[in-house]
Amino acid sequence: MSELSVNHLLGIKYLNTKDIQLIFETADHFKEVINRPIKKVPSLRDITIANLFFENSTRTKLSFELAEKRLSADVINFSASQSSVKKGETLIDTVNNILSMKVDMVVMRHPNPGAGVFLSQHVDASIINAGDGAHEHPTQALLDSYSIRERLGDVKGKNVVIVGDILHSRVALSNIYALQLQGANVMVCGPKTLLPKYIKDLGVKVETDLLKALNWCDVANMLRVQNERMDISYFPSTREYTQQYGVNKTLLNSLDKEITIMHPGPINRGVEITSDVADSDQAIILDQVQNGVAIRMAVIYLLASKIKH
Ligand code: CP
Repeated sequence: MSELSVNHLLGIKYLNTKDIQLIFETADHFKEVINRPIKKVPSLRDITIANLFFENSTRTKLSFELAEKRLSADVINFSASQSSVKKGETLIDTVNNILSMKVDMVVMRHPNPGAGVFLSQHVDASIINAGDGAHEHPTQALLDSYSIRERLGDVKGKNVVIVGDILHSRVALSNIYALQLQGANVMVCGPKTLLPKYIKDLGVKVETDLLKALNWCDVANMLRVQNERMDISYFPSTREYTQQYGVNKTLLNSLDKEITIMHPGPINRGVEITSDVADSDQAIILDQVQNGVAIRMAVIYLLASKIKH
């Protein structure tokens, strides 16, 4: 039987091509399940999962919780803002207290890069990284590639540009790893101040002119400017950013082909993307959200099958 090469999902960096293929094939099955009148399977009735969110989330948190419930797992939710973390408890103490209640798997979002790796080395549970600072967001990259595969038939050979705040983006790094593993050509585009110095070492094309990037690509993944991770100004004004790096329908209509528009959310309408693009058939933003449940079901199911009771 096929199984993942890893016991945790800490980042796309730790996966291989076969892992991604297996996750996608398993997600195909779960996508069919969640479109049935009865959207639930009994697969994980013996598994308990803790969702630990030390940072805000809408899509990822709800998507994981729904995926877990669709698989019939027992689920407990933890939000740092309402917990004893505020009283000075360490991450390991917090998690070990939760694990002593017989939890098998932990889904964690944390502001510190590497928090998931650290946790996996200190606690006895399967860890899924739901976003660690500006480092990785592996399930987002998996659902993004899965959505490209669904819309365009394959990821291999496609030209994908990631536009915007690459410097502060965990979505960008995980997408670069995932797309390259599947044979896509990857470009990043944004103001020089929001492109990390090491970016060329990752083997991606780098472009600062959005029109050139859009003319090159089959898919543009538009990122939000992460003001909450910035302590200085990286561009003169939001208006200027939008003029240079925002997509709108007029700009897309000026291209000689129709490209696919993606966005991981949350969207800042009128900044990196206008409503006439976000709500158009060219955009697959809500397909990404829908596919997120099937992808997370697949990841949880495959990791749970490696847990020894
Ligand atoms: N895409 C994403 O991670 O969204 P949330 O921050 O709402 O989970």
